[in-house]
Parts: sequence; structure tokens; C-alpha cells
Amino acid sequence: MKEKHREGLMEEKRLFFPPTGFSSKAVMRNPEIHELGRDRTKFWDEQGKRLDWFKPWDTVLEWSHPFAKWYVGGTLNAAYNCLDRHLEGARRNKAALIFEGELGDRRVLTYQDLYREVSQFANVLKSFGVEKGDRVTIYMPMIPEAVIAMLACARIGAPHCVVFGGFSAEALRDRVLDAQAKVVVTSDGSFRRGNIIPLKESVDQALKNVTCVKKVIVVQRTGQPVDMQEERDMWYHEVIKNVSIVCPAEPMDADDMLFILYTSGTTGKPKGVVHTVGGYMVGVSTTHEWVFDVKEEDVYWCTADVGWITGHSYLVYGPLSNGATVFMYEGAPDYPEKDRYWEIIERYKVTILYTAPTAIRTFMKWGESYPLGRDLSSLRLLGSVGEPINPEAWMWYYKYIGGERCPIVDTWWQTETGMIMMTPVPGITPLKPGSCTIPFPGVHIEIVDHMGTPVPKGEGGYLVVREPWPAMLKTVYGDDKRYEDTYWSQFTGVYFTGDEAKWDEDGYFWVIGRVDDVINVSGHRIGTAEVEGALVDHPSVAEAACVGRTHEVKGQAVFAFVSLKEGIVIGDELIDELKAHVVLKIGSLARPDDIFLTAELPKTRSGKIMRRLLKDIAEGRAMGDTSTLADVAVINFLKKNIDAQK
Ligand code: PRX
Repeated sequence: MKEKHREGLMEEKRLFFPPTGFSSKAVMRNPEIHELGRDRTKFWDEQGKRLDWFKPWDTVLEWSHPFAKWYVGGTLNAAYNCLDRHLEGARRNKAALIFEGELGDRRVLTYQDLYREVSQFANVLKSFGVEKGDRVTIYMPMIPEAVIAMLACARIGAPHCVVFGGFSAEALRDRVLDAQAKVVVTSDGSFRRGNIIPLKESVDQALKNVTCVKKVIVVQRTGQPVDMQEERDMWYHEVIKNVSIVCPAEPMDADDMLFILYTSGTTGKPKGVVHTVGGYMVGVSTTHEWVFDVKEEDVYWCTADVGWITGHSYLVYGPLSNGATVFMYEGAPDYPEKDRYWEIIERYKVTILYTAPTAIRTFMKWGESYPLGRDLSSLRLLGSVGEPINPEAWMWYYKYIGGERCPIVDTWWQTETGMIMMTPVPGITPLKPGSCTIPFPGVHIEIVDHMGTPVPKGEGGYLVVREPWPAMLKTVYGDDKRYEDTYWSQFTGVYFTGDEAKWDEDGYFWVIGRVDDVINVSGHRIGTAEVEGALVDHPSVAEAACVGRTHEVKGQAVFAFVSLKEGIVIGDELIDELKAHVVLKIGSLARPDDIFLTAELPKTRSGKIMRRLLKDIAEGRAMGDTSTLADVAVINFLKKNIDAQK
């Protein structure tokens, strides 16, 4: 059980010091750095200087609780910082992006190449009437054009909203409408395990009767026939032809919006998390350089999709602002063989790998013969993100991938925090398997009890951020109240993360997981309310309640309890149909692993579904207090039947 499992964690006593030779060469090796970070304003004022500004800021932070403005008065451009400033000198012809497609096709774009393509596409967007402040939705596979489109938007000051290609047409539609996007950039399809995922088809469905979108630009990737709607739809390769490569970067206020990224919360409606240019860029640039110890000659691979925050911050903006060489892979880790990742590392001599615990646990399951069969000696640093990493997976990663010579940076952060918040700084911080160690310099994190009082070392509680940090979200798009209510109302004066954590006697943090109605499936955030909404949308369903249950590989899986409308016949086909319905409404990432059909759901006397008890049942553990239930027979029935199935 997850909670039990994490409870034992603080007993993990193994300590791993930075390997010999690593610390002396690390980018950040000042042991005082966390201490220096205590003067937060001074610290972040200093870090601001790592970027190129058109106009320097007057005040580093204006804090009008809970709204922060960072680098007030400063103007800059994110794409300029990722491209133009690298063009003088040796970086100009350095590889910015090394791409490999699932079918083995390869492309290298130097900083000069990327600059040219971004400027051209920015001019295309402008020619279609996209102006500063207009939103552009990007629904793309992991191909260079996704990065090009993001940076082109940033160049002209049009906030991008990247929607993960695994989301369904309906989920895409909700996000396009919420953002009121003017343009959608997509591709005909994407390759996945040898199949084609028809992205353009989903866009067509999503845009039915949507009037805000004026143009759809389609990258030709898979080559299968697609419908092109006259006037609205254009091929990328056609519109880019003969377009000027000169497109001046728009000076943006530090507080202007850089992008919106939708994430799940406790209600059925995804939140548009808004990030601004100045603070975000300083935050991701600083963390990327120090946490990944990035040097000029590194080949850095972040396996996250650009549709998630990790892709935004640590595949695009962080690494490119630092002039790093980024490796990008389109496909699945087991296509055509289960050693695809290791083959890639061997081929490109990848030096830094940033991936998720769910992937590591999958590799463990496949067995160490796959990594052992490849030369992984180029690796010198490993990273983990998205969910707690269990010590067993940590040790496997350390031994079989890192050859016991690579530090592992377990990085805790969120879509909302924009940047890594807790992490080892690898040349300085000793590691404990399963702990994300300590807050990054200049970040003030605490654990509080239910009254909001900080708990002493050795105890646990709710994870909060005490003070503003540069890459923090500005608001929820179009809904300041939701921003205040969601993040700043549980405990006075602090940002509530939604996570539960403990800290040990050494001040190391151990994140347990979400305490709200969010499930973390393979590092992807899924709101129980979203899945319930999708189930209830099915004509046979009366009511639904979803909880997360521990899953060996995915971390958590969705377990749904469903009551049917009168007269509906229960059968296995119906369960498959309900699962398919969730995929249709949200995407395959939200597909429940288990659906249990029941006549009734357990409710309190006032009619509230008791998810806490359902969670106990899904986890197969003893049930908590049942005294407030209207009818205890309902829960006893569920427990008996589900235990019997296990
Ligand atoms: O519960 C925490 C978990 O992922 C949540 C944030 O999800 P999302 O916004 O999708 O961003 C994921 C990538 C940054 C957090 O509230 N989480 C993320 N990283 C870790 C983690 N839990 C434990 N350890 C981590 N390193």
C-alpha cells in the first residue's frame, strides 16, 4: 500500500555522496548556496542577470498577496533568450535539437537552424493575424515543429497552449474553447508503437462549431490522407515556403503571459495555469543549469512530452536558454525493442537523462539485460520527476542505468510551480533514495499541520510554499478567484501544493502524494471529478466515484465504482464500453484499470459519497470509520465482493 510504503521511507538510511570528481567540476559547487538563497530577493535579483533583457527590471518582486509580479519594469523575450543570444560565437553551429523519430528518422537543428525556422514560423503566424496576446493551441507529436511552434509563439508574444497529443478530441475542444485560441497547430498524425495516431482527425472533431479558431496549420508527419478544410486548414510545409527569416523578437513585459498549460484539479474542469515570461524564464534557466549540472558539451535528454510542464520547462525553455544540446525522441521506449532508450543513449552519447519513476519501474520489469546490453558509459547524471520514486526503483536506476557513478536528482515540483522546487544540487547534496532532499536555493518550503502551523523535523503534514518564487503561476486563466481559492485559501498566507509530505531529522523531504482528489497515474495528473464526469456522461450510468489505487508500475491507477440506471444489464462488455467512453471523453491516460458495477454507492446520511472508504476498499486495506454511513450494508457488500476478486 502506498501510504504504508511511504511511511517506512524515513527509515531509509543509505546516503550517497557526490562521486569523486563530480563535485570539483560541478557548475554549482558552492556549499553556501542554500544559505545565500535565504535572502530570496537578493538571490533572485542576482539570478535575473543570467538572461538577456531589453530593459532591466526596477523591482525584483512586488507581492500583493496572492498575486506576485517578478522583475517589474523589465522587458525581455523568451525565444530571444533561447535562440538569438546564442548566435554570436561558438554556439551558433552547435546542435540545439537532436531529434529521432520512432521509425528511426533523424534530424539535427543547430541554434542557427532553429532560429531560422522559429523566425519563419513566427512570420507565418503573424501573416494569419496572430498578434501579441492571442492564444495558439499546439496539439502535436514529439517532433521539432512542436518546439518551433512554441518558440514562434513566444517570439511574437502569443501565449501558447500545448495540449498533450494523448488527449481526446473532446478534451482538446474544452481547452481550445477555454483559451479562445485563434490558431491551432497540429500534424496529420503521430507514430506510436508502429501505429498512427490521427491527430488531425481529432482536431477536426474538436473544432466542430468552434468559431474562435481561424486557422489550422498541419505538419505532415505520417503522410496518411487527411481532410483539409478550405480557407481554414493549411499545410505547414506550404505556408513556410519563401517566408522571411527575419522576425524581430517582441519585447514583452516580465509579467506578460508566456503560456497557458491545462492541468487537473479537484473539479471536473481543467485549470489553465498561466506562466509569465520573466519569472518563469529566470526560474527554469537557473534550476536547469544547477540541477542538471549542464555544461557546454553535454547531450541532455528529457523524455517528457512537450504537452506537460516538464516538457515546457526542461525540454524547451530551461535547456535552450542555457544553450544546451537537447535530445528529443518521438516514440515509445519499447519500439521496436525494449532497449530503445539504451540504444539512443549509446548512439548519441547522452550524458544527462531525465525521466519518470513509472518508466524506471517499467524498465525494471523488463529486466536489466536490456540496459546491460548497451554502452551507457556516457551518462553522468540521472533525474527523476512526476511522482515519488520508491527506493527500490531508485537503486535500480542508480545501479543499472547510472553504473553507480551518476548522481540521481529526484526533483519535486508541479505544473503550477513552473520550476523544480525541491531537489539535490548534485555537486553538493548527499542523496537518500526516495527523498527529493531539500528545497532549491531561494525556495521556501514547509510542512504544516491542519492548522497551518509548521511541524517539527521528524513529522509530516501538508506541503506548502511559504514565499513567492519566480516561476510561480500568475493565475488560473480567466479565473483569479479559482486561483485564490485553490492555492491560497487552505492555510493563511501560504501556497498549498495539494501534497502530503514528511521531513526527517536531517531536514530531508519525503513526498507521500496528493491529499486532494487528484490521482497521479504514471506521473500524469488526473482529476477524479473528470473521470467521474466522463462515466456519468455514458447513458447507462447513474453515478460514479473514482479513487486512486496503488499500482506497481504506474504508481497509481484509476479505480471506478459505478452505479447503473434502472434496468441496465450488468456485463463485462459494459465495463469495456465504459472504459472506452472515458478514453473518448478524456484520452487513454485516464482509462480506469478497474470498474466495479454496484447497485449503490456508499453515502453519508446527507448524501455525500464516502470516497475515503472506497479508497480503503480499492487498496484492499481495513476500512476506516463507517459510523456516518446511511447504510453500512452497501459498503460491506462492496468490500466482500472486491476482496473476493483479488
Ligand atoms: O504529487 C506531486 C507529484 O506530481 C504532482 C504535480 O504534478 P504535475 O503538475 O503534473 O507536474 C508533474 C511534473 C513536475 C505533485 O503535486 N510529483 C512531482 N514530482 C514529484 C512528485 N511527487 C514526489 N516526488 C517527485 N519528485
